[in-house]
Amino acid sequence: MSEPDRELTIEVDLRDLRVGEMIARSAGDRTILICLTREGLFAVDDECTHAEAHLCEGRLRGLRVTCPLHGAAFDVRSGAVLKGPARQPIRSYPVRRDGARAWVTVPLEGTGAGAAGRGAVID
Ligand code: FES
Repeated sequence: MSEPDRELTIEVDLRDLRVGEMIARSAGDRTILICLTREGLFAVDDECTHAEAHLCEGRLRGLRVTCPLHGAAFDVRSGAVLKGPARQPIRSYPVRRDGARAWVTVPLEGTGAGAAGRGAVID
């Protein structure tokens, strides 16, 4: 369990998003990509693990976000690599949702790739 001062919570107004869209939000020194899909709401790191491009400038299709720079693809549920050239997953973050609002919990330290666990939506 995380201590309160070791995590940040990002609040998202879901009226800003339609299914198939994504937005980037700052959390400390990171940028978190929030993706609204038909399967739910997910949050992952915005930075591609290949060469640090911003995934928010890429494309979201279903559960797959594609990097705009060299085409790596990641699963927004888990951050897993679906297509290279990236080899390392992006981090995923837990999401809590209540109606038109959602909250993403972002640990401030001790977060190796995948350490935050699988992004999830709790309706
Ligand atoms: S920076 Fe994302 S694939 Fe190269």
